[in-house]
Amino acid sequence: MTPSTRSKILSVGCAVPPKILTNKDLEKILDTSDEWIVKRTGIKQRHIVGKDETIHTYDLGAQAAKEALVKAGLTKDDIDGIICATFTPDYFFPSTACKIQAALGCMNAFAFDVSAACSGFVYALSVAHAMIVAGSCKTVLVVGAEIASKTLDWTDRSTSILFGDGAGAVVLQATQEQGKGIFSTYLKSDGSLGDILYLPAWGEKRFMKMNGNEVYKHAVRMMGEAIRICLSRAGLEIEQIDLLIPHQANMRIIQAISAHLKVPMDKIICNMDRFSNTGSASIPLALQDAWSAGRIKDGALVVFVALGGGLATGSVAVRF
Ligand code: ACO
Repeated sequence: MTPSTRSKILSVGCAVPPKILTNKDLEKILDTSDEWIVKRTGIKQRHIVGKDETIHTYDLGAQAAKEALVKAGLTKDDIDGIICATFTPDYFFPSTACKIQAALGCMNAFAFDVSAACSGFVYALSVAHAMIVAGSCKTVLVVGAEIASKTLDWTDRSTSILFGDGAGAVVLQATQEQGKGIFSTYLKSDGSLGDILYLPAWGEKRFMKMNGNEVYKHAVRMMGEAIRICLSRAGLEIEQIDLLIPHQANMRIIQAISAHLKVPMDKIICNMDRFSNTGSASIPLALQDAWSAGRIKDGALVVFVALGGGLATGSVAVRF
């Protein structure tokens, strides 16, 4: 690879389970209301895997990855690597990425998972980009896949209303094209804040736990900072952003970031009303919406940003 190699997003694919759980459905099992949930979060419904369904995280990931592959006009043999971000793997091992590899038959690829909670997609994308720029591979499937509904205590109204299931994938490929592709990434974690949002791996009560107010405060601060630093590394200003695609945690976090950074809401993609917070799948799901709405224009500066348990934050700036 020459020093001018970058990585370019060729396509995006997504998958969600067919079952939809609306806020009205939640009213029947929790002391909550559609009005409260919409007002505090912007979420109206979420797709979830039903209790009697046998859909795995890797099934959703493979479906999304297959769609991305077809859209890119590539075959399974063109893929050098699969990196999957998930906090809801089906197994400790084999990795979700290896299960996706087997489902797709991408037998020329390496495959591994990345663990960075809701920031997972940004971390996986950054790792794939760095590997492409280093010359260790050319074409990588970057997947974010979650069945978050399995991690929720459905008697806890403060967490169970927020999350849904789904997957998204992009094909990332080396490019020499000037001025196109990923040109800046920024990753930062603060492990000292691990206890405000966590999911135990062992024990009987393996449910997600969250201090919502604390998460909200740090999410606004850390995501704003991540965007600023990511852009400044490339000598760019906030005003130059054409489209901001944030992790879809909730509408109020995004509105606060919009106000702090002075990025107007009409430049920000939001689809948590339909999908809720799908963890590492939320950014590719939002990218898919933007792309199919014709908002990913040639030359557009698009910025991804996320925050998740860890705490882990990150941002990626890409010129399409
Ligand atoms: N329905 C009705 N009432 C509720 C619900 C609910 N689902 N959940 C909490 N309440 C009640 C509380 O019990 C409390 O009642 P009280 O005043 O009688 O004690 C009241 O609503 C206010 O509770 P708060 O927790 O202060 O509500 P807040 O306005 O902070 O909203 C929320 C809660 C939406 C969780 C908010 O803190 C938030 O957005 N936090 C960010 C969390 C997040 O997005 N996490 C996702 C994972 S991290 C990530 O992806 C970035």
